[in-house]
Amino acid sequence: WPFHAPLVHAINELKRERNAVILAHNYQTPEIFHGVADIVGDSLALAARATQTDADVIVLAGVHFMAETAKLLNPAKTVLIPSRNAGCSLADSITAADVRLLREAHPGVPVVAYVNTSAEVKAEVDICCTSGNAVEVVESLGVDRVIFLPDEYLAKYVATQTKVEIIAWKGHCEVHERFTGAEIEDFRRRFDRLTVIAHPECPPDVLEAADFVGSTARMIDYVGSEKPPRVLMVTECSMSDNVAAASPETEFVRPCNLCPHMKTVTLSSILESLQTLEPRVEIPDALAVRARRSVERMLAVKP
Ligand code: 13P
Ligand code: SF4
Repeated sequence: WPFHAPLVHAINELKRERNAVILAHNYQTPEIFHGVADIVGDSLALAARATQTDADVIVLAGVHFMAETAKLLNPAKTVLIPSRNAGCSLADSITAADVRLLREAHPGVPVVAYVNTSAEVKAEVDICCTSGNAVEVVESLGVDRVIFLPDEYLAKYVATQTKVEIIAWKGHCEVHERFTGAEIEDFRRRFDRLTVIAHPECPPDVLEAADFVGSTARMIDYVGSEKPPRVLMVTECSMSDNVAAASPETEFVRPCNLCPHMKTVTLSSILESLQTLEPRVEIPDALAVRARRSVERMLAVKP
């Protein structure tokens, strides 16, 4: 991308000067994913890799809850989120007070929170999970029922994979909830030999219409190992751009739903963030201690 070269060069120089590392989610644009990121992955990989860096500064090219998770696991490091507007409809769908009410309504039932939640919510729950380890985390608790929040569709998907009864919340990802089963069937009619792989934040009729369901990292691994001739990645569409570079044998057909929050992170905002060391993620100690426990419990089950 010659157009991006000056920014990519400036960011990579400044990273060295600051002893900084850039963690980028799979939904970041190709110039970030391929041009400046040191570590790329799904939410689980980013959380796990955040514990392994000896950099002084972590730049989280993703959304706010991901940067909070990195800060929880690296309290002494400077953690930067290059956009103040990088929120998430799932994280915004539930508050700490909602979790306390759920506990009152279901006394003694443990609470599992998807990492797509605020630090305040993480502090109220028993354990976190991601879409890459949700079933293992639920089953690790050794109970018959769990409260699973905030993603209703991920909760429903997990319920199909375990005997544990799942009590769900009503949060949705604004990107994945837009896909429909009818749309998937329409793609199948228009494209022969189509393999459909979908993220579990999609509605149940989409997952039923898919050949494979998994987190973003599992979707990427599936394409790498199965090498389907033609694939529909039912997820945020930057991911197809990122994977296409490494999978020349696969044709990517895709409905292009973009995450507006992820897209507020740009090369320019990453450069500015490294120059100013702002915006920083700060979490009060008393809150961080409680929220960190939920994330660390998750990593102990499946990093
Ligand atoms: P994963 O990358 O963990 O599958 O999550 C998808 C997502 O929507 C993150 O915001
Ligand atoms: Fe949140 Fe969905 Fe965007 Fe992920 S893709 S950050 S879950 S709104």
